[in-house]
Amino acid sequence: AAWEKQVRHSSTPRRVNGFSVLVTGAAGFIGSHCSLALKKRGDGVLGLDNFNDYYDPSLKRARQNLLSKHQIFIVEGDLNDGPLLTKLFDVVPFTHVLHLAAQAGVRYAMQNPQSYVKSNIAGFVNLLEVAKAVNPQPAIVWASSSSVYGLNTENPFSERDRTDRPASLYAATKKAGEEIAHTYNHIYGLSLTGLRFFTVYGPWGRPDMAYFFFTKDILQGKPIDIYRTQDQKAVARDFTYIDDVVKGCLGALDTAEKSTGSGGRKKGPAQLRVYNLGNTSPVPVGRLVSILEGLLNTKAKKHVITLPRNGDVPYTHANVTLAYKDFGYKPTTDLASGLRKFVKWYVNYFGIESKHSKETQHFDESS
Ligand code: NAD
Ligand code: UGA
Repeated sequence: AAWEKQVRHSSTPRRVNGFSVLVTGAAGFIGSHCSLALKKRGDGVLGLDNFNDYYDPSLKRARQNLLSKHQIFIVEGDLNDGPLLTKLFDVVPFTHVLHLAAQAGVRYAMQNPQSYVKSNIAGFVNLLEVAKAVNPQPAIVWASSSSVYGLNTENPFSERDRTDRPASLYAATKKAGEEIAHTYNHIYGLSLTGLRFFTVYGPWGRPDMAYFFFTKDILQGKPIDIYRTQDQKAVARDFTYIDDVVKGCLGALDTAEKSTGSGGRKKGPAQLRVYNLGNTSPVPVGRLVSILEGLLNTKAKKHVITLPRNGDVPYTHANVTLAYKDFGYKPTTDLASGLRKFVKWYVNYFGIESKHSKETQHFDESS
């Protein structure tokens, strides 16, 4: 196959004892950032992505172009393609898998429930089936989600809190992923580390997420909906900047235990670990909007509406003590600084820089 030649060159690690990492979902938001960071520090990276059209695939192609400039190759294929995955492991002796490919988004699960089952459950199982049979087994770090905390509002959330009230099918498939991981760890000794990301945002982000389409709609003068809870409280999220999440992912890979394999009884089986990767500082959606209004120097047309029963949860807030203890995870970017970087990327990517910079100039002069 075409990718085979590329891979034989590109996946050679340069770092001393460098990793060789299969990044699934590499054309995605978090996957593209992590691939670049791994490559930059000298690890070998090969991507896998099916380039589906859940959101504009041209953005995925643009990320792919960026990665290819850094000699990172993305194999186009699906998690459910067992022979393809087996072939990938035959060609490259991956030490690690960073598994980020999934059907993301909470509200879309009401429109297309099967896509969540296919990618987040069947696809994950398929990957684990292949990985368990590889010798030596790769250590796997995979994306879970803050959505597993469901309707919890006692804060902040720590890893031991209850996760038995998923509010969306998306959350249910992420929770299922954690149970499935536990099984593969138990039976086959696979090393599995789950990361519960909290509403990640930043440059090259996902157009289906609120901060992204709010920016678009504010610039186009279109109205936006700001949700409030059923009891009229502000809906809040622990928005987490992409660079902080990338550091967390690399940290988790660095400390992931080696698999023991099913025969590795001597040292005891590798552990199944789950970590929160959040910002530890929840912000109401109204505040997110006012920061964007400031950065875009444009007033939003706001509709405040009661949170529809669409899978959204009222509140998220991460306790990250465990990730700090185990791999020094410490978020450093507040929402205003992170959104500033996002908006800068946005106006540049969509070619509306001149309008924006004029406005910014005007804004600066008058202030
Ligand atoms: P994303 O949609 O940008 O990236 C996922 C990528 O996986 C996409 O490029 C998609 O084409 C690919 N993909 C999906 N199904 C596939 C399949 N069956 N086979 C091969 N490729 C497939 O999303 P993201 O925001 O980068 O999220 C990455 C991971 O983190 C996901 O697992 C998501 O559920 C999880 N997560 C994200 C957030 C967030 O706020 N962004 C929060 C919590 C968890
Ligand atoms: C995000 C991602 O989309 C999920 O893939 C991920 O799993 C989840 O984070 C997570 O942390 O686990 P969400 O927090 O719902 O989910 O992110 P957005 O869809 O961007 O919504 C952000 C906030 O804006 C939410 O509080 C939501 O209720 C609110 N919102 C959304 C509005 O007020 N109005 C809208 O029109 C849309």
